[in-house]
Amino acid sequence: MSDKIILTGDRPTGRLHIGHYVGSLRNRVAIQEKGDFSRMFVFIADAQALTDNFENPGKVRSNIIEVALDYLSVGLDPGKVTLFIQSMIPELTELTFYYMNLVTVARLQRNPTVKTEIAMRGFSSEGEGQAFGSGLPVGFFCYPISQAADITAFKATDVPVGEDQKPMIEQTVEIVRSFNRIYGETLVEPKAVLPSNEACLRLPGIDGKAKMSKSLGNCIYLAESADEMHKKIMSMYTDPLHINVSDPGHVEGNTVFTYLDAFCQDVHFERYWPDFACLDELKAAYMKGGIGDVKCKKFLEKILNEELGPVRARRQEYEKDPAAVYEILRKGSESAREYAARTLDEVKKAMRIDYFNDPDLIAGK
Ligand code: TRP
Repeated sequence: MSDKIILTGDRPTGRLHIGHYVGSLRNRVAIQEKGDFSRMFVFIADAQALTDNFENPGKVRSNIIEVALDYLSVGLDPGKVTLFIQSMIPELTELTFYYMNLVTVARLQRNPTVKTEIAMRGFSSEGEGQAFGSGLPVGFFCYPISQAADITAFKATDVPVGEDQKPMIEQTVEIVRSFNRIYGETLVEPKAVLPSNEACLRLPGIDGKAKMSKSLGNCIYLAESADEMHKKIMSMYTDPLHINVSDPGHVEGNTVFTYLDAFCQDVHFERYWPDFACLDELKAAYMKGGIGDVKCKKFLEKILNEELGPVRARRQEYEKDPAAVYEILRKGSESAREYAARTLDEVKKAMRIDYFNDPDLIAGK
C-alpha cells in the first residue's frame, strides 16, 4: 500500500458549487476510488472560517451540515475517508501557536492569497467574509499558520486544492523546513495537487466574471434542483458578438464553452450530440458560424444533469437523517484527533517541552 496521506478541507461559509466540484471535489472522489493512500482526511475548516466570520458564528454553524452533505453527496465515503470538523481537534490550535515562532510578519504579508483577501475585506464586505473596518484581526492574518497546522498534524503528503491555495502549501513547506532544521526531522513536507485542466483551475461564474463566488450570485450549487440549474444555464454569458446563429462565434471567454471544457467528454457527444465527435469539432463549427447558443446550453445542461443527478439523489437521502451525518462527523473527528495528538506529542518532544515524560529531568539529573 502507498504511504501517501491525503488531506484537504473547505470553509463552511456556504454550500459548495460546481467550481468546488471541478476544482477539487471530483478529484477527491477519484483519489478515494483509486485507493492509492494509507489515509485520507477531508475536513470542514470551521475555525478558519471564523477568522473572517467571527461576528457571524451562526453562518459557520449552519453551514457545517451543508458542507458535510455536499461531501457525502458527491460520493466521499466515510468508510474510506475520515471526515471531521477542524475545531473538534484542539491539537491544531496548539500546533499553530508553536508554529507562529517560525513565521515572520513580513512573510505573512507577502502571502498572495492573504494579500488579496485583505484588500477585499479591508473596507467593505466583498468576498465571503465580514469587513475588517477597524483593522486587520491577528487571527485572520495568521490563518496560513493554522492551515500549516492542519496539514502537518496529519503528516499530509498530498493536498488536493484549488489554485488559490498554492501559497498556503508553500507557506506550510517553509514552516516544515524551519521546524525540522531547528528541532530535528519531525514534520512532513506536503505538496499541492492541482487539477490539470485550465478550466477546472478557476471555473468562472455563469455571468462570465472571474470566479464563481457566492457574493456575486453567479454560482451553480451542487444542491441545486434541475429546474434552478436550467434557469441559470439559460441565462449564462456566452459571446456578445454572436447575435445571429449564422454569425461566427467566439469560444474564448464564452462561459458555456469554459464549462464544456471542464465537464465534457467524447462520450457525451455520442449520447447527446452525435453530429460531432469531440469538443474541438463543436468549437470549430461554432467559430465558423451556424451553431446556436441555446443548443450549446442544452447540451451542457444534459452533461451537467448526468453528472449532478446522482449527487442530488444522494443528498436527498442524507438530508432525511441529519443525525446520521453529525454522527459521521463525530466519529471522524474522534479518529482524526487521535492521529493529530500523536503528531503533537512528537512536536513537543522535538521542542523539548515534554517535561513529564523525561525521567532524567524529573529525577533532577
Ligand atoms: N483554506 C481552505 C479554503 O479556503 C480550507 C483549508 C483549511 C484547507 N485548512 C486546509 C485546505 C488544509 C487544505 C488543507 O477552502
